[in-house]
Amino acid sequence: MAKSSAVGGVSRFGSTQRRDAWWVEILPVMAVLGAFGVYATLRAFEGKFYEWGPYLSPFYSPLIDPHHHWWPFSPAILILGGPLGFRATCYYYRKAYYRAFFLDPPACAVSERSGRPYRGETAFPFILQIVHRYFFYLALLFLCFLWYDAVRAFFFPEGFGIGVGSLVMLVNIVLLTTYTFSCHSLRHLVGGKLDCFSCATFGPPRHAAWRWVSVLNDRHMLWAWLSLFSVGLTDLYIHLLSRGFLKDIRLL
Ligand code: FES
Repeated sequence: MAKSSAVGGVSRFGSTQRRDAWWVEILPVMAVLGAFGVYATLRAFEGKFYEWGPYLSPFYSPLIDPHHHWWPFSPAILILGGPLGFRATCYYYRKAYYRAFFLDPPACAVSERSGRPYRGETAFPFILQIVHRYFFYLALLFLCFLWYDAVRAFFFPEGFGIGVGSLVMLVNIVLLTTYTFSCHSLRHLVGGKLDCFSCATFGPPRHAAWRWVSVLNDRHMLWAWLSLFSVGLTDLYIHLLSRGFLKDIRLL
């Protein structure tokens, strides 16, 4: 598509008739996704500094075999595939990293590399992106664990309390829930595939659900970024507490 949009019959990589700085859009994606990828990988493999008081880093939830009875490595490795697969196959992130890291295509109406026919996601390995809907189901399970962690973050050894960390974890799970419930797969599931709601079983409630999901879906890119930042910052906060570099402030 990008090749045919490169006008004037020119197919040299990056050629375009666009007058705006189209490349500005991909630079922040490269920087932020790249930095998050490095940070998340290092933290997941670190295997320590993931807990403080009632707080648990989202990279380690659900926490499995923390005392290494049968798993000798970082517990995060056991669960990493779920959230990683969900984000990596997300329709929005696919667009973002295809452009930023593969330059394939670099942007709308900008010519991609020549000599490689555009095959989209019709061939291996990208055809595997179709499994996104199954990662969505898995993400719902992860949300249950993360909500449990967020509620637990309000219960200290001496009883109910509110620390800055409790609020950080609450904001994180709200953003993660919003991101998950704005998923294109969910929108399709609740009603996106129907041509006629009034003819379908449970049509009216499905139509209502579809409208609600559509409102969230409209801002899916925003939720994708906000939830990515919140996961990273929540982990960083707990990491710094755990290492003694920060002190949690108790508000109640
Ligand atoms: S499309 Fe982005 S999470 Fe499903």
